[in-house]
Amino acid sequence: MLHMLPRLFQASETVIKRGSLIRLQFLQGERAALLVGAKSLKESGNLAKIQNFLSKAKIETTLIEGISGDPTVNMIRTTVEKFSTLQPDWIIAAGGGAVMDCAKLARFFYENPDLDIADILKPFSVPGSHKKIKLALVPTTSGTGSEASHVAVVKESNNGHKIPLVSERFIPDLAILDATLTVNLSPAVTAYTALDAFTHAVESYCSRANNLLSDAYALMAGRLITQHLTVSLSEPRNIKSRENLLYAALFAGIAQNLAAVGGVHALSHALGGKTGFPHGYGNAIFLIPVLTFNAQNSPRPAQFASETGFSELQELFDWISGILTTAGLSQNWHQVVSETIKTELNTAEIAEMALNDVCLRTNPVKMEKNDVRQILEETR
Ligand SMILES: [Fe+2]
Repeated sequence: MLHMLPRLFQASETVIKRGSLIRLQFLQGERAALLVGAKSLKESGNLAKIQNFLSKAKIETTLIEGISGDPTVNMIRTTVEKFSTLQPDWIIAAGGGAVMDCAKLARFFYENPDLDIADILKPFSVPGSHKKIKLALVPTTSGTGSEASHVAVVKESNNGHKIPLVSERFIPDLAILDATLTVNLSPAVTAYTALDAFTHAVESYCSRANNLLSDAYALMAGRLITQHLTVSLSEPRNIKSRENLLYAALFAGIAQNLAAVGGVHALSHALGGKTGFPHGYGNAIFLIPVLTFNAQNSPRPAQFASETGFSELQELFDWISGILTTAGLSQNWHQVVSETIKTELNTAEIAEMALNDVCLRTNPVKMEKNDVRQILEETR
């Protein structure tokens, strides 16, 4: 029943400042495994910066590249095997949510070699660890908040199911939030990762498990995103706005730890599991219809809109639509899937996966099969 208690988790140490990547220079240890995803980290010169700081710390660092897409069971097993060979004191992940989630899960299985992923797939069944390896997370997108959250999403290799796992062992020892790492993000990635953080905020605020602490973090995050996302899109190198989005992602991640998310995430996990659809993009598409559905029987969506500076819920919806248009993103998931992912889709199957997602438990209004199917039809 421990998971029923609202527990305030965040990294043991969080550093937020432009240039704070230098914190790596002061790490103590002998060996590190450095997980990275996209090539952009290398192309921007930031990977070399990270390696240089670790070299100054006299830490022998092994690079594990190419972590892309949602972490699958196979990807995690391969990464754990590498850790077993390297015996690192530090596991460092620099990237988006997928890279950070992969590091969280791989650390856990490296610390618990007797456990298989099948042992922890049941909601809230992840045990503690005895061996303690340090984990540092460095986000390079503007919003998954994975560096703050106790959630890690794993994709089952055989059926594509995306399962959010929850454990305090997924909280890192160190989170480094350096806005200089996010100034080169494309408008699309800026928009949908920030809208992922926005979804963590609004879904935590509307959650059945909300409390005053999660409300406070959720509102701080919501206000920062509504104030700074538009600026980050029009002035990508505006470091102040980029930094405020990193703060927002952190606050929203903490709110999510306290209150959990809801129907938007359930739908996005299902669509992403079936098609590889980017998590934040899926959330951005399902935000308006799920909030509309919830608002029929809950005052919370309208209260969140009002508390974050909108005169009414519709004005919040117009803002979301405007962000998607500005960033060149569609509001129609099926169009994106057929144009870019080219996978034949079964809406009923996606609906079934969403209905089985643990996030639906905290949606403020009970969603039935027809509700989920209707939202999928409305947005295709
Ligand atoms: Fe999310």
